[in-house]
Amino acid sequence: MGKINFNELINRKGTYSTQWDYIKDRFGRDDILPFSISDTDFRAPKEIIEAVRELVDFGIYGYTRWNHDDFVNSIKNHYKNYYGDDISDTYVAYSPSVLFSIAILFEVLSKTNDSVVTFNPMYDAFFKVVENNNRNLTKVDLNFDNGEFSFDEEELEHKIMNSQILLLCSPHNPTGKVWTPDEISYMINLCEKHDVWIIADEIHADMVHDTNFTSLFGTTSSYEKLVVVSSASKTFNTPSLGGSYAIFKSMQTQQDFIELLRNKYFVNSASLPGIKSLMVGYDECDYYIEELKAYIYDNYLYAKERLESMNSKIKVTNLHSTYLMWIKIDELCDTNTLSENLINYGKVGIMSGSVYGDSRFLRLNIGCPRAKLEEGLNRVEKTLEYMGLLDK
Ligand SMILES: Cc1ncc(COP(=O)(O)O)c(C=O)c1O
Repeated sequence: MGKINFNELINRKGTYSTQWDYIKDRFGRDDILPFSISDTDFRAPKEIIEAVRELVDFGIYGYTRWNHDDFVNSIKNHYKNYYGDDISDTYVAYSPSVLFSIAILFEVLSKTNDSVVTFNPMYDAFFKVVENNNRNLTKVDLNFDNGEFSFDEEELEHKIMNSQILLLCSPHNPTGKVWTPDEISYMINLCEKHDVWIIADEIHADMVHDTNFTSLFGTTSSYEKLVVVSSASKTFNTPSLGGSYAIFKSMQTQQDFIELLRNKYFVNSASLPGIKSLMVGYDECDYYIEELKAYIYDNYLYAKERLESMNSKIKVTNLHSTYLMWIKIDELCDTNTLSENLINYGKVGIMSGSVYGDSRFLRLNIGCPRAKLEEGLNRVEKTLEYMGLLDK
């Protein structure tokens, strides 16, 4: 038994919670048990709660700087201590959110109608950030085989060759794929060969379960056109506190990025609770990450066992990272009909894979207490029974 009681059911209703209070926006009705947007139903570590409480009690919430060793070294030390990557020769910048950073990076690194390569399926905001910034979206489908995902090297090279940016989600939402050191090196080499930038979103890097995470800076490559964007907000469940960061190999690019943020978009202050929670989380709360991962993985094993025993045609992909399960259901029935019935009959909010570019799957957020997950799976079971799809 760990120090943290992740089993505690905490009522989040009435807190303006996107997942709970605004469920209707996603599923068209209010009476749904949500497993949707990727935040967790867990409290942040007590060290973060105490640090934020101290800030609140202080009572002066003036303009705040991020450009100091406390913030920068927290990030660099986390990369060194948690992933084993020495990033002492990189340049860090603050930004309000990860997707904000990506949009700004498009402006810094490319021009209108340039092409951005992403894998498909993909975290849906990636599609939007490319298209809504007038860049050309070029998708490379991931192949699914035996619970695992891979890409076609020739196709990737062909598409990278004709693009300006590779936008990588590493680890990958929604499949949970953790790119291997060989895959990361391969992609960097391809980009170097064709003079293409890589932006890697490493926001899920702390939540790697059964393998090791390799960051974009975790190879021996000296290629300069690499940028990592990330945040401590997934790990410690703090997205509403605000704040994220970008890490650059090139100092000039870091400066260009900061210049746009300061003098075009007027991000004049860092979020004090945001940077404080990152520093406290990265400096003091590794124990929380370890316990959280263990809890999530137990949830995964439990949900996998239950889903597969409901019907052997449900295929649960191997969860290597994240708290998002990716579940193949196309052999079971028409996927749209199942999604409809889960919402309107089972009253359970599970994301349809079509949101992420692959309608054969469902995405289930298991970052929640076991009792909530159990109730959600009961609702799935009831829905399958109603549809005559339960194995005898
Ligand atoms: C891969 C990935 N990147 C970024 C985000 C969101 O980050 P932010 O709110 O800082 O833009 C998410 C949240 O689901 C995510 O899964």
